[in-house]
Amino acid sequence: MQTKKIYVAPSLLSANFLQLDREIDMINNSEADWLHFDVMDGNFVPNISFGLPILAQVKQQIKKPLDVHLMITAPERYAEAFREAGADHLTVHYEACPHLHRNIQQIRQLGMKAGVAINPHTSVSLLADIIRDVDIVLVMSVNPGFGGQEFIEHSLTKVRQLRQLINDTSSGALIEIDGGVTLENASRLADAGCDVLVAGNTVFNSDNPAAVIRQLKLG
Ligand code: DX5
Ligand code: ZN
Repeated sequence: MQTKKIYVAPSLLSANFLQLDREIDMINNSEADWLHFDVMDGNFVPNISFGLPILAQVKQQIKKPLDVHLMITAPERYAEAFREAGADHLTVHYEACPHLHRNIQQIRQLGMKAGVAINPHTSVSLLADIIRDVDIVLVMSVNPGFGGQEFIEHSLTKVRQLRQLINDTSSGALIEIDGGVTLENASRLADAGCDVLVAGNTVFNSDNPAAVIRQLKLG
């Protein structure tokens, strides 16, 4: 049983875009902590989602921090534009950044919280030399590119390893899990050491999204 605070970040990717106004109001009036915003470029991942103009409009209405997950190559080219559009957190992929340390510094210098995301095949041990410099580690628990996929169970082992690494190095990084989060696995994820649960399908395809958000927070 975990007792620490669990953050919940609904993923806009699963929202009904014909009713975006209503979806954002629901998030504003819920216990959600952040709004997760997935950007896909059709190159780093085999799908295209949404980008800067939508983020700028969402920013005008959302009252929660915008947690932007960039699934794009060369994210350093767009960091400043995402700051201007309203990103509060900017997470880039380890696999997309040969100069990750520089990219993380750039994001922090722009005044955002800096995150690094790792794909299911990327080992937690590869983060040893960057863990003290990041605010968030996002563990992908599905292969990035699509909502509504099945949770990869090995991700729990990775979360435990990451919790150990963070404790050993006195890093302040939060552990965010993204992909296939459900009411069934939420408590196991919290127990393994997750701080932030991203949930798309589980929240937006439910009859009572605000109640699901509340339940996820209980872990
Ligand atoms: C997938 C995205 C996720 C996605 C999660 O590439 O990074 O944020 O929206 O959706 P669910 O919770 O439905 O797996
Ligand atoms: Zn995401």
